Amino acid sequence: MTAADPLISLSHYYLPVYKPRQLVLERGQGARVWDSQGREFIDLAAGIAVCGLGHNDPDLKAALLEQADKLWHTSNVFYSAPPLHLAEELVQASRFAERVFLCNSGAEANEVAIKLVRKWASSQGRSADRRVIVTFRGSFHGRTLGTVTATAQPKYQEGYEPLPQGFRYVDFNDEVQLETAMAAGDVAAVMLEPVQGEGGVMPAKPGFLQRVRELCDQHQALLVLDEIQTGMGRTGTLFAHWQDNVTPDIVTLAKALGGGFPIGAMLAGPKVAEAMQFGAHGTTFGGNPLAAAVARVALRKLASDAIGHNVGRQSQALQAGLQQIDAEFNVFSQVRGRGLMLGAVLNADHAGQAGVMLDHAAAQGLLILQAGPDVLRFVPALNITDQELAEGLTRLRAAIQSYLAGR
Ligand SMILES: Cc1ncc(COP(=O)(O)O)c(C=O)c1O
Repeated sequence: MTAADPLISLSHYYLPVYKPRQLVLERGQGARVWDSQGREFIDLAAGIAVCGLGHNDPDLKAALLEQADKLWHTSNVFYSAPPLHLAEELVQASRFAERVFLCNSGAEANEVAIKLVRKWASSQGRSADRRVIVTFRGSFHGRTLGTVTATAQPKYQEGYEPLPQGFRYVDFNDEVQLETAMAAGDVAAVMLEPVQGEGGVMPAKPGFLQRVRELCDQHQALLVLDEIQTGMGRTGTLFAHWQDNVTPDIVTLAKALGGGFPIGAMLAGPKVAEAMQFGAHGTTFGGNPLAAAVARVALRKLASDAIGHNVGRQSQALQAGLQQIDAEFNVFSQVRGRGLMLGAVLNADHAGQAGVMLDHAAAQGLLILQAGPDVLRFVPALNITDQELAEGLTRLRAAIQSYLAGR
């Protein structure tokens, strides 16, 4: 393997909170990227489930360049056209929301969702100790103090204490625990991902979201869905919760909403749409014209039937390919997920080896992700072609083979 790009030595100027693979990516096209040394990779990571339309999508690029020629920034003290249109289009696409708050990232979208829950509860006359938000073990909601506290995983919280109060954790997919957690009547909201992403690509079991909705209705609590990873078509419908037949009160989006350009959004349904009034929240950059212009195009394209069909088809192909690799090498205990958000769970013989496999994959010209130490995560572009996926699977097979040879 070629020596790493010397540019990587500059990474010692970074706060060392990441451990990237030793590659400097330079350009991308569709589901392929090239590094600074000219090596080509099949990209089944798409950032982290961000580039829903692959790299260098001509329509996203055109929207960005057109807007770049006109106006970059106004902040929220003036209007500009792209975020106004985007807000209308998100409300219409959502089938439930009345209002939208635009921001720059997933954590910001969840942070405002948490604040909105509390503001709503306060407007209902609930004292501060009766504004509890229930979240689920294995969840991931972001890295701000509020969202990392919502994230019911100690590894993300350690050392950041004191954490904000008002969160309660239960096991994912455990309705009995949820009933108990809500019994005291002090819960203002339940917040969850329809498929836990960072927590191991773990889908809510069939009927679970409906049960959560029922319990929320029973206890006058809000249902908040974090669709930051599952949304924008990733699971085969624009929003994953459409497949669960529930109507949420709040939904958060980010990641693929901008197709690679940073943007987040919080969508508020009728119960909460008026709970925050002038001065209750704000952002300098949120809803900026460049991001909104790109997101409008991403939304239109990702909501199309063509994307929905492709996600269904390629999901089948990817699952079949993973099963075939497993039949040959016996490395997975399960392949799970929905649409193009799939996880291959390593069996006991290979527990903890996901990171090592990712290194072998990169060496074979394949970019994939892990979701914890035991799960290989596949979240490719939603418009990935048959050929790109087939090549990705061929390279994955080679990577598993070289991993096994090196043990
Ligand atoms: C479900 C979910 N929520 C929130 C976030 C946080 O988003 P961001 O990294 O843009 O702050 C992520 C990021 O991985 C996520 O997957």
